[in-house]
Amino acid sequence: MKRLAFVMLILVLTSNAYSNAIEEGNVRYHKNCHNCHGPAGMGVASYPKIAGLDFEYVVDRLNRYRSGEKIGSNSGLMISMARKLSDDEISKLAAYLSSIN
Ligand code: HEC
Repeated sequence: MKRLAFVMLILVLTSNAYSNAIEEGNVRYHKNCHNCHGPAGMGVASYPKIAGLDFEYVVDRLNRYRSGEKIGSNSGLMISMARKLSDDEISKLAAYLSSIN
């Protein structure tokens, strides 16, 4: 939780107010992620629910998929999605997903 507060502080201090990060993450989410994880990140069938996950958890998962790591049986889908994400997009997506449930 301390690290989460620290990350939020950095986002605010770098003039990228936390609420802007959430908003940009929201826009980015609805470009691609929505198709599988649903309009509110609630998941459907084999696509997991991702709304309400911890900020750090989402960052960790997206980094691991981006590096090509297999986590579950359907990681192939996420690996190809995550390869297209920048560090900045990953933090904004994590800010968005951890802000909804
Ligand atoms: C083609 C369908 C598809 C798209 C598009 C997609 N995902 Fe996924 N996502 C999956 C599947 C399937 C898994 C489970 C992967 C596994 O088995 O490891 C997953 C897993 C995840 C997880 C880990 C969930 C957990 O509980 O550990 C996160 C976080 C995630 N996706 C975020 C995103 C984000 C952010 C985007 C948009 C950039 C996105 N996904 C786009 C299908 C998709």
